[in-house]
Amino acid sequence: NPLNFSGVWRFRELLPFAPEPMVVTIGEGQTLLRRSDKVGRYVGMDEGGLLLQYEGMNPSGSFKDNGMTAAFTHARMVGARRVACASTGNTSAALAVYCSATDHGFEAIIFIGSGRVAYGKLAQALDHGALTLQIAGDFDDAMARVQQVARELGIYLMNSVNPFRLEGQKAIMYRVLEAMGWEVPDWIVVPGGNLGNSSAFGKAFIELKHLGLIDRVPRLAVINAAGARTLEELHARQNVAWMSGLPDMGRVGAYYERLDRERIRASTIATAIEINRPVNLKKCLRALDFCDGVVRQVSDQEIMDAKAQVGAGGLGCEPASAASVAGARRLREDGIIAPSDRVVCILTGHQLKDPTATVAYHGTDPEAFEKVLGSRGVRRAGFANR
Ligand code: F0G
Repeated sequence: NPLNFSGVWRFRELLPFAPEPMVVTIGEGQTLLRRSDKVGRYVGMDEGGLLLQYEGMNPSGSFKDNGMTAAFTHARMVGARRVACASTGNTSAALAVYCSATDHGFEAIIFIGSGRVAYGKLAQALDHGALTLQIAGDFDDAMARVQQVARELGIYLMNSVNPFRLEGQKAIMYRVLEAMGWEVPDWIVVPGGNLGNSSAFGKAFIELKHLGLIDRVPRLAVINAAGARTLEELHARQNVAWMSGLPDMGRVGAYYERLDRERIRASTIATAIEINRPVNLKKCLRALDFCDGVVRQVSDQEIMDAKAQVGAGGLGCEPASAASVAGARRLREDGIIAPSDRVVCILTGHQLKDPTATVAYHGTDPEAFEKVLGSRGVRRAGFANR
């Protein structure tokens, strides 16, 4: 069965909405769970305690493909042609790839905020022929606008408000568990932006537990960037009143009003998660409730330092992805993760998505030439990193 070449549809019994002949797949989800003791030492784990789930290996270079295959399948089932999203870059890249790589007449329309999309991602949208509209404002503005436009013009919306996206993203957890021989890790650590992944992971564990396929669930840690920390504000600081896992939306509204009043905009070097109004907030809080979750924020410095450690450990990721490793380190320091725990950090996107941030971080060291070559009179042409 060709569906077995997809790391999502191999698990089709667990996302049973799609008749097999309708599935839209480009071979997504052939990803890797790799043990990394180097990064583990940085985080503060015992040998073998840290595992990295590398979703940068997807066809479009990020985890989004897991969700896109499911949402495109549903779009095909309902006969949609024009498909749209707002994006900080990866959703739009995946959308463009799925439209261009398949032959079902899909047309891609993308809304991005001005100036905040990393070049690797923008290049993908353009090269794959998506209509790319840059609007004045940031991601939160673009998201509000695309929801309105999609409703008014009857365009199929591909953001993670689309529940079929989340169905596909459950497969990331199936692959983690499969790679661990269906042993449940102690922690899943994931960056939080629009909170689609964390919501999907929670749903995966709720279902697996109810089906009796696992007997316990891992704890879930969602990591915000300090400059985009709505979830952290509302969860970690216990501002949310709980009613069987549902937040008091009045408090959420009051928080958003404060953001407006004080003109607070999301701002982080991890542009992928530069989001202040996550559309899946409620679902994520439910996932955190079920998985005894925690939320942390990490600074841009911590994110970039962690990213360099991931790179030195042999896997390349973009800044937002490294928030998971920076967050795991924080939770180790706080004594919430124990050194003997088994921790899976999700590396959500590939290093080449955002080369600008990487090059700027590593900077130049004027003494690098002398350190290696002594006084051998090599003429410098430019770059030498620290
Ligand atoms: N990591 C990367 C690389 C991302 O691109 C995103 C989200 C996230 C983490 C956060 O995931 O939304 O499920 O909490 N990127 C979206 C986009 C918003 O438009 O590409 P989330």
